[in-house]
Amino acid sequence: MTTKPWSGRFEKETDPQVEAFTASIQVDQRLARHDIAGSVVHARMLGRQKIIPATEATAIVQGLAEVWQDIQAGAVQFSPAMEDIHMAVEALLAEKIGPVAGKLHTARSRNDQVALDIRLFTREAIAATVEAIRELQAVLVRLAEQHGHTIFPGYTHLQRAQPVLLAHHFLAYFEMLQRDQARFREAYARADVMPLGSGALAGVPYPLDRAWVAQQLGFSQVTTNSLDAVSDRDFLLEYQAAASICMLHLSRLAEEIVLWSTPEFGYIELDDAYATGSSIMPQKKNPDVAELVRGKTGQVFGHLLGLLTLLKGLPLSYNRDMQEDKPGFFATADTLLASLRVFAGMLATMKVNRTRAREAAGKGYALATDLADFLVRRGLPFREAHRCVGELVRYAASQDKQLHDLTLEEYQRHSSLFTSDDLGLTAEMSVAARNVLGGTAPGQVAAQIAAARRALEEARPLPAPDLDPRHLIDRTAS
Ligand code: ARG
Repeated sequence: MTTKPWSGRFEKETDPQVEAFTASIQVDQRLARHDIAGSVVHARMLGRQKIIPATEATAIVQGLAEVWQDIQAGAVQFSPAMEDIHMAVEALLAEKIGPVAGKLHTARSRNDQVALDIRLFTREAIAATVEAIRELQAVLVRLAEQHGHTIFPGYTHLQRAQPVLLAHHFLAYFEMLQRDQARFREAYARADVMPLGSGALAGVPYPLDRAWVAQQLGFSQVTTNSLDAVSDRDFLLEYQAAASICMLHLSRLAEEIVLWSTPEFGYIELDDAYATGSSIMPQKKNPDVAELVRGKTGQVFGHLLGLLTLLKGLPLSYNRDMQEDKPGFFATADTLLASLRVFAGMLATMKVNRTRAREAAGKGYALATDLADFLVRRGLPFREAHRCVGELVRYAASQDKQLHDLTLEEYQRHSSLFTSDDLGLTAEMSVAARNVLGGTAPGQVAAQIAAARRALEEARPLPAPDLDPRHLIDRTAS
C-alpha cells in the first residue's frame, strides 16, 4: 500500500475495494503526455514568477522528462494505488527528484489539472477527426467525378422515385460531412480555453501568469470563471454531439452500402479486402465494415446521453462524478476516427455496377413525374396531369409492363395530350431536366463537384500544438 499524497487528514488506510473503485488510472493513463506537458509549462511558470526557485523548476521539468521517457518506454506499471494519472506522475517524479517534486502542485488542483488535460486531448482528437473527415470527403468527390454521368435510382420510402446521378448521391454525403467538420471546428474553439489557475474551484493565491501558460500550450484563450472552469464539460458534450451526428451520417451511408451490395440491389460490390466471409456458408461475402459502423453508432449516441445525464444534476463546482466523463469520450473518439478511416478505404475500393443501376433507374415507373411534367407544359394543371399518369401507371402495372413498353394509343387513352415524343423518354432526359440549383442535372452536379473540390482545398487543418514534453522543455527554457 502506498501512502496517499492526501493521507494527512486520514487515520486509516483506504480500503482496497475503495481504492480499486475510485481509481481512474486504467483509463486516464491515456492522458499521460497531456498531463506532463501541462506540468512542464506550469512548473516553468512557477519558476518565472518566482513562486518557486528557478533551479527547482528546472529540476522538476528535467524529472518530468525522465518520467515521460519511462512511460513511453513502457517501463511504468500503473496500478490502482496510484489513483489517477495526475498523482501517478507526481509519485513517479518524486522517485526521480525527491521532495522537490512536492512543489509541482503549488497553485494547482487536480480539478483544474484534469480540465486542462482533457481539453488538450479534445483539441487533438478534433484536429485528427477533421482531417479524417477531409480524407473521406476527398474519396466522395473522386467517386462523384467518376460517376458524373452514372444514372442511379433515387428513392423515397425506399421505393424507386426518380433517377439521379450517382455523383449527386455521393455529394449528398459530402454535404453532411461538410456540416460535420464545421460542427467539430466549433467544438474545437470551445475546447481551446486554458483552465489552469482555477485551482480547486476558487482560483489560487499566487501571482500566476496564466496568459503565458496558455500561449505555451497553444491555447487561444484563458477561462474567466474558476467555478465554471473546473465544472465545465460543455466542450465534451459538443464534441460528442458532433461525433454522434457524424456517426449517424456514416450509419445512413452504411445502411445504403449494405443494401446496395445485396444481390437484390446489386449496385455495388465491395472489395475483398473490405468484406468478410462466413464460417459456415462458403458463398458469403458480407459487408461487415458497414454493419459495424452502423452498430457502433448506437454506442456513440449512448456516450453522449451518458455524459448529458452525468452532468445534469451536479452542483458547482467539481464533483467526482466527472471522472466518469472519460471512458465514453475516449471510446467515442476511437470509434469515430476508426469509422471515418475504414469508410474512406471501403468506398475508394468498391466497384459500381453501372449497368445494373441504370436498369433499376429506368424501371419501377421512375419517369412518371417527367410524363406528368410534359402534360403540364401542354397546359394541364399539375394535379390533373398527376392523375392521368397515375392511371397510366396503374394500367401498365395491370399489364405487367413498364411505361416504355406501352404504345402511343395506350398513352393517349389516358390523355390526348401525349405525343409520340413522350415514348422516347429516358432516365438521362429526366436527370438532365432537373437543371435547377441543387438539382441532379449533369451541369449542376459538375458545378457542385467543382465547389466541393474548392472547399477541400481551402479547408485549413486545425492547430495541433506539439505537446511532446521534451520539446516543451526546450521551447520554454529562458
Ligand atoms: N481523476 C479525477 C477526474 O478524472 C481528477 C481528480 C480530481 N479528484 C478530486 N478528488 N478532486 O476527474
